[in-house]
Amino acid sequence: MKVAIFGTGYVGLVTGTCLAEIGHEVTCVDVDEAKVEALRAGRVPIYEPGLEPLVASNMEGGRLRFTNDARPAIEANEIVFIAVGTPPDEDGSADLKYVLEVARTIGRYMAGRTVVVNKSTVPVGTARLVHDAIGAELSARGVAHDFEVVSNPEFLKEGSAVKDCMHPDRIVIGAEKASSFEKLRRLYAPFVRNRERFVEMDVTSAELTKYAANALLATKISFMNEVANIAERVGADIEMVRKGIGSDPRIGWHFIYPGAGYGGSCFPKDVQALARTAQKLGMHPELLEAVASVNVRQKRHLYELVERHYGASPTGKTFAVWGLAFKPDTDDMREAASRQLLEQLWGAGARVRAYDPEAMAETRRIYGVRDDLVLCESAAAALEGCDALVIVTEWREFRSPDLELMRARIRDRVIFDGRNIYDPAEIEDGGIAYYGIGRGRSI
Ligand code: UGA
Repeated sequence: MKVAIFGTGYVGLVTGTCLAEIGHEVTCVDVDEAKVEALRAGRVPIYEPGLEPLVASNMEGGRLRFTNDARPAIEANEIVFIAVGTPPDEDGSADLKYVLEVARTIGRYMAGRTVVVNKSTVPVGTARLVHDAIGAELSARGVAHDFEVVSNPEFLKEGSAVKDCMHPDRIVIGAEKASSFEKLRRLYAPFVRNRERFVEMDVTSAELTKYAANALLATKISFMNEVANIAERVGADIEMVRKGIGSDPRIGWHFIYPGAGYGGSCFPKDVQALARTAQKLGMHPELLEAVASVNVRQKRHLYELVERHYGASPTGKTFAVWGLAFKPDTDDMREAASRQLLEQLWGAGARVRAYDPEAMAETRRIYGVRDDLVLCESAAAALEGCDALVIVTEWREFRSPDLELMRARIRDRVIFDGRNIYDPAEIEDGGIAYYGIGRGRSI
């Protein structure tokens, strides 16, 4: 089938590439000329395992194209995806300016029957706005084409986006017309062996489904972080508690890892946007508000452990910081817990020697060159001349501690583990003080 996709961010680029991989003819459209030029040259602007070779092979195969030119892409394709960003507005609502701009462009050039598929995470009711924006352009042109705006939220995770896209655990389609359901089922059929993976519903329910999924996952994390803080005070180990509850299938093992707070481009923004939707309706979404505020507090927790250890602000100390991305396998630092920590350490007059396997360039872009930040080439190099080590992101390469090296290089012999990747007893037996999240026995 022939598909146009507007927006070459995570969602658009991964979806477009995967659709090309299963044999569709895909045109990705972006207004950013430099980005399109880079993609045409085979340079993928984000770090996402497996994506770059897939982009290259599908471009070579002639199934994947990149362009700034919206008009031919809309005229020639029966299915047009909207996958542009929805950054938070000043009040926390999702800002729809890019989505509606694409909608107007689609209306301006639509040349025949079209299914417009919204994949961006948008507030409930947006499909209606997109529909009206397209309709207004069509009437201004004095033409009437048959079109439907369908909601098809995306559930891929950064770091495993290609895999998530190729093997989805469900494909949610919100539409009205049988022909739209049929078209999307045909489009996605190669991804799903099992037809039960298609979950078909009305547009509004599909829009709400996306927020419900992310808000529930964020709730699990904030819940665990709150219990972790209790564990810390009562002298329990949250890791034992986690193991003790995860085996109950009603609770499950996923997303119950306490840590330095959730980050990324989705959870913080989506929890806030759903809360805003409820508030605008005159409701008081207490649970969602608490999920967000617990997370804000949790992001400050690592620094609090540092102060607790030193009994004062760590002025003049040098901290090795391992992990800057908001989670492993990405270079994305949006809302990353590391940023809160770095800024608090700097605020206290401490210095940072940082290392991340992928996010060094991003760190430089965000913070520029400064005296109190040294970007190091390896985890071991970051330890040189440091007083303490803080782990913020659980990259695999940090998981097996070289205790001898740590003892030799960390002057104050203390580790703050923001993701609980170590066994406290092992570190302490190695002669190093250990602070985890919710690990009361080490306080
Ligand atoms: C999230 C969802 O997991 C995806 O299903 C969704 O499609 C996506 O948002 C989106 O809306 O686009 P993502 O933001 O890529 O995906 O990352 P996650 O793996 O969900 O991690 C989010 C944050 O939660 C990270 O900072 C991670 O460290 C933290 N986290 C995760 C925890 O603190 N504890 C956990 O148990 C799990």
